[in-house]
Amino acid sequence: MERILSGIKPTGKLTLGNYIGALKHFKDFQEQGEVYIFIADLHALTLPIDPSELRENSKDIACFYLASGLDPKKTTIFLQSDVSMHAELNAILQNYLYIGELKRMTQFKDKCSKMNDSAIGLGIFAYPSLMASDILLYDATKVPVGEDQVQHIELTRDLVNRFNHRYGEILTLPKAEVTKVGKRIMSLTDPTKKMSKSDPKGDIFLKDEESVIRKKIMSAKTDSGSEIYFDQENKPGISNLLTIYSAMKGIDLSLAVEHFKNYRYGDFKKEVADAVLEELLPFQKRYLEIKESGMYLEVLKAGAEKARTTAQVVLKRVKDAVGLLS
Ligand code: TYM
Repeated sequence: MERILSGIKPTGKLTLGNYIGALKHFKDFQEQGEVYIFIADLHALTLPIDPSELRENSKDIACFYLASGLDPKKTTIFLQSDVSMHAELNAILQNYLYIGELKRMTQFKDKCSKMNDSAIGLGIFAYPSLMASDILLYDATKVPVGEDQVQHIELTRDLVNRFNHRYGEILTLPKAEVTKVGKRIMSLTDPTKKMSKSDPKGDIFLKDEESVIRKKIMSAKTDSGSEIYFDQENKPGISNLLTIYSAMKGIDLSLAVEHFKNYRYGDFKKEVADAVLEELLPFQKRYLEIKESGMYLEVLKAGAEKARTTAQVVLKRVKDAVGLLS
């Protein structure tokens, strides 16, 4: 049976990038195998975060998971910090990753290149080790993520090969599953930059009000000229909006390009906004109902129990392999 695993870090407000690149697709895997979806709260501690913000973000992500169509009967939804085996496996696996590899990670470089070594916490540097542990703890074969996380999964694969070469077939080789349309949604104000949780102007946040979403899309940076076609390099703004539209409609990019070929920028943006709202408004309604009902707390509790049962098996296998007596 195929195991599918992914997670989202509760560091800020979730964006349309998180939705299109990851969250939206999680439910599609429910028919393919056993799905584990977690809130990567330990990862959120790798950069300074206010405790109350972390708590609220974590609850929000649990509700977003459920609002996106994940069914707790089919998918194990849990908090990473509820399953101590993540930290235990990390304590073992970090010994099989090298400083040189970690220094090459784009995410680390992006987040820390302007920081002084004396201000960079060990956690952000060792991030890929915990992430590899998250994945390997469940024998996951598929890991649905946006493009920015692929490098971490490649490193996880290197780790598996290294570890298995030494100890035999102990760890399962995972593969990144990147969506065809929308693996890298760009900022609306600077379409050469990724849309990220820390970019309030260029972002659409999943909790933004209808009028705010519309306004952000209508004022998205476009490119010179007036034609609408896909060209990431020369038309990054238009290409990003075309991608967002295709992803929301669940259609091929070529169909979106064909649809808009005689449009003017203004009408084009209006339809993109309509497509985003058509999906996000009902999603927001479901999110609010779930949040108010408080039912997500029960889901997390049951999920953690189930996750621990699975995780225990792999942890034991790894401990035995490396020679830990327990
Ligand atoms: P995080 O929380 O930064 O992002 C969650 C998911 O959203 C995707 N994503 C995007 N996709 C398209 N366009 C964008 N602009 C965009 N921004 C973000 C990310 O690729 C990701 O899939 N390290 C992970 C969390 C994590 C994890 C794991 C994921 C921890 N352990 C194990 C998978 C498996 C992260 O920080 O994602």
